[in-house]
This record gives sequence, C-alpha cells and structure tokens, in this order.
Amino acid sequence: MLRRASGHTISKPNKDGIPDAILERFEIVRQIGQGAYGLVYQAKDKKTENTIALKKCVKVLTNITDAHRTLREICILTELRKSGHPNVVHMTHAMGVPGSRTDLYLAFEFFDGDMRSGIRSSLYRNHDAVMEVVVQVACGLAYFEKCGLLHRDLKPENLFVDTKTHRIVIGDFGLARCQSTVPQVDDPEQKQSEGTLPYMAPELLLGTDQASYKSDIWAYGVIVGELFCSSIFLRGRKKMDFIRKIVEVTGPPTDAYMKKLESDLLPQCLEVERCIENLEGMDPEPGSDACWEQQFPMAEPQDIDLLKTLLAFDPEHRPLATSVMQHPALAKHLAISAEGIAVNELSPQVITVPLDDALDSELKIDDLRATISGVIEKSYSSGGGCCVLL
Ligand SMILES: Nc1ncnc2c1ncn2[C@@H]1O[C@H](COP(=O)(O)OP(=O)(O)O)[C@@H](O)[C@H]1O
Ligand SMILES: [Mg+2]
Repeated sequence: MLRRASGHTISKPNKDGIPDAILERFEIVRQIGQGAYGLVYQAKDKKTENTIALKKCVKVLTNITDAHRTLREICILTELRKSGHPNVVHMTHAMGVPGSRTDLYLAFEFFDGDMRSGIRSSLYRNHDAVMEVVVQVACGLAYFEKCGLLHRDLKPENLFVDTKTHRIVIGDFGLARCQSTVPQVDDPEQKQSEGTLPYMAPELLLGTDQASYKSDIWAYGVIVGELFCSSIFLRGRKKMDFIRKIVEVTGPPTDAYMKKLESDLLPQCLEVERCIENLEGMDPEPGSDACWEQQFPMAEPQDIDLLKTLLAFDPEHRPLATSVMQHPALAKHLAISAEGIAVNELSPQVITVPLDDALDSELKIDDLRATISGVIEKSYSSGGGCCVLL
C-alpha cells in the first residue's frame, strides 16, 4: 500500500519519469499507448498481482481548462465504476503524486488490444465476431444514455478488447460530458466540435448542432461500418472531405433536411449541395442498396438496414442506443451482453460533475485541485487497495 503524502515528501522520478511512490505499488512492464497527456503503460499491481493499464497524466492540473477536463474525466470514471458495467472500462486507482500539484496517475483494468488492432488482425473477420462488438458497444452506449452521458470521442482506438474472451469496453473519457451541461449556443462558429474527424457526425462537421446522443450514435455507425468492411471507409483531411465521402456512401440527405439547412445556414447548405452535385453518374448510385452492399461486404440485409439508420445524415432520423438494442440485426446476438443488459435495467443514476456549470465563473485552479483531491480521497482512499497521494 502506498503511503499517503506527508506534505513535504518529494517523490523521485525514474527513467520514465514515474515517481518512486507510484513504483512502490506498480511495476512497469512496457509502454502500450500514447495518451494526449502522457504515456500509458502495462504494469503489475504488486499488491494484487493484477495486470493494469497505468495512465500517466502529466501537467493536467496546471491550467483551468485541463484541470476542468481532468475533473470531469475522474468524476465520470468514478461514477461509472459504481455499476461495474461490463462494457465500460473500470478505473481501479486515481493517484496524485507527492510533491507535484499538477500530475496524476490513473490505473485501469488491462486489455490486451483495442478495436483498431482487432480490425487489422483477423479478430473480426467473421460475422459473429463482428456482431459481438456491435452488441457490446450498443449496450455500453445504452447505459450512457441512462446516465445522461455523452462520450464524444468514440473510435476504434478508444474501444479496448480482451482478445481471448472478445469482451469489449468503451474507454477514454477525456472528452466525455454530462448531456445536461453541453452549452447550447446558436452561432455555428462557437459550437464545439471536438472529437476525431472520421467519426464526427455531419451536424458537428457542419456546425449545425452540438454533440448529442445522436452524434455518439453516428460515431458508433462509422465503427460498425468499419467492422463490416474491415477497413476505414471515411478518409479525408478537411471537414468537407468527410461530408463528400459520407454522401458518396449514404446518398444525399433528405429534401426536408436540405430545406431546413437552407433556411438555417445557407453557406453550409451550398457546400453540401456541391458535394451532392459530385455524385452525378457514380456507379453504383450512392445510397442505393447496391452501393451499401458493395461498401460493406460482410453485412447481411438486416445489418445494412441497421447501418442506414445509424448513418442517417439527419440526427433526428438516427435511433438512440436503447432502440438499437431492439433492432432485429442484434436479436440473435443479445445473449453476449446479458450481463450488460442486466446492469442497464438497474435504472442507473444520472451522472453529474461538480463545478461543471461554473466554467465561466471566477473559478480558481486551486478550487479544481481541491475538488479533484476530494473526489479521489472519498472514492479511492479506502477499500479495494486504492490510494491517494494528492
Ligand atoms: N485499460 C487499458 N488497457 C489497455 N490499453 C489501454 C488501456 N487504456 C488505454 N490504453 C491504451 O492507451 C491508449 C491511450 O489511452 P486513452 O485512454 O485512449 O487516452 P487518450 O485520451 O490520450 O487517447 C489507448 O488507445 C490504448 O491503446
Ligand atoms: Mg484515446
């Protein structure tokens, strides 16, 4: 068990820059990932002998923006771990570093792959293996809807996989938000469109709407599509490249959608019209059954039907994850997720994050540090061998 910080204890970093206090408890095995705020390691918990993933979060408490994001990530992970949902990554420890007021270490249950490497290898080369993923991720997303949570960065790199059991979890809550605190602004320039371009919904690419459950569903649809064609099918550099690629598969948006876009945001409407003009003469015709079938060769007719709804250009026409779970394409495969479905039925609590409404106020970095310390202390200092060093 790690000793609590005694205020003046300074922990010496090793060659990876990991302080002794962390190394007393965890033995680093190897680096497994590159995080936005530091590296991710495979490590062994010396106390439990469990293999864990150790995420080094360096200088995350130096400015208000990063500290706020970190507070959100920790609170969300802390709330999520209460349910132990089988399709959500489980955070086992959150630790501050003695002598550092800016760094944190987070430990997670370990997975030996992610979905991107699974697509590259032969893990998802047959229909049943693909459906195992489709069901498990839908189950995790249905749970988020019940918790009022938007993930906002769903992509194969953030879906961690146990390659032996094929269990898959949604990870990386760095951009996640409580649905109730996504700011509603009318100006498209001010709309936040964080995320990763190939997985960003049309409404985020065009700036017509904020992130929502439906934009998470879009990202899920792109992931499902990648599974059914074993590759990345939306490629580009700029936002409009992706709109062009999207309509090449799905065909043009509905007339009703285009009318609304024309009256709300004329410049975006003209750009989409230009993409639609380029579809002229394409074979198979974008949006036709032949086009969907050619693009997603592993998909059966019911899967194509599901994909069409997930990748509906208009968010209003996309289903919520709760209805995806009812889609006939999933029916035969739901047993895979029986445990997750049972957790979903426990009527989860809506997740809230302290200070989440206070972004524009006179918030001080020390307020955020104190709140993060409080959350870590309350949730990780006793029981389960969790420790706090902040
Ligand atoms: N629990 C885990 N098990 C195995 N690998 C992980 C785990 N958590 C993270 N990783 C690896 O580290 C990478 C970065 O971690 P992630 O949580 O996605 O942080 P970031 O916000 O920096 O992308 C992941 O894409 C994955 O390869
Ligand atoms: Mg990530």
